[in-house]
Amino acid sequence: MSKQIQVSGLDAYYGSHKAIEDVSMTIEPRSITAFIGPSGCGKSTFLRTLNRMHEVIPGARVEGKVLLDGDDLYGGNVEPVSVRRMIGMVFQRPNPFPTMSIYDNVAAGLRLNGRISKSRLDDTVEESLKGANLWNEVKDRLSKPGAGLSGGQQQRLCIARAIAVKPQVLLMDEPCSALDPISTLAIEDLMAKLKDDYTIVIVTHNMQQAARVSDRTAFFNLAEQGKPGKVIEMDETSRMFTNPSHKATEDYITGRFG
Ligand SMILES: Nc1ncnc2c1ncn2[C@@H]1O[C@H](COP(=O)(O)OP(=O)(O)OP(=O)(O)O)[C@@H](O)[C@H]1O
Ligand SMILES: [Mg+2]
Repeated sequence: MSKQIQVSGLDAYYGSHKAIEDVSMTIEPRSITAFIGPSGCGKSTFLRTLNRMHEVIPGARVEGKVLLDGDDLYGGNVEPVSVRRMIGMVFQRPNPFPTMSIYDNVAAGLRLNGRISKSRLDDTVEESLKGANLWNEVKDRLSKPGAGLSGGQQQRLCIARAIAVKPQVLLMDEPCSALDPISTLAIEDLMAKLKDDYTIVIVTHNMQQAARVSDRTAFFNLAEQGKPGKVIEMDETSRMFTNPSHKATEDYITGRFG
């Protein structure tokens, strides 16, 4: 179910402001791709163009192409809602439905997809919570509200909710920035496991995290303030972190700016 994403010549705008310019890249299935770069260079914007969440913002639009296994995500007869179902997203701050039970948080997306039997729902909720490495911690309190979990548990709940609908790609925008180091490691272990089945893209400000979890890394940067963000280079993570091709990349990953 894991799929390849091919982006070519992508520009993204907010009204007349061009936030990113001419991004082209291939994101391979069954791998983790990290996006790094200074604040404001368009990492989140670009991530949202990959599942058509960008255009939800009034005045926002995209030019260029995004293909999912060759299919144009911006094709004339493509429903944005179906794209968002295929390409799931996990946000910076865990955002479970707070008053909903743990069970219902995971089941919510499945119920939206149409009628489903109680036993299939039970099975999928269990499988998704196991997939998110949370089952053992919550199996005895599935009817308790999602808000009663710790931050790290809530983030894993959001991951369970995202994988319950069996997406082909999982986009994660700084999923660990609100988490303590132990929860962060739990999420990193989980990503390593999920990449057997999913195409994963993660935005992170944590260089160690990018180095630990990702197979490939893209470095985004602004030529200057007010100019659109661009991809400066993209490479195998091990290569990027030991032998970057651009001085700006080296400066960023060694902490000289950003
Ligand atoms: N909803 C919005 N409306 C208008 N402009 C926006 C909006 N969101 C982002 N921008 C602008 O687009 C540019 C890129 O922002 P974006 O959030 O994608 O950067 P980022 O790399 O994710 O930054 P950070 O690391 O701080 O999260 C910035 O100039 C930002 O001000
Ligand atoms: Mg961002």
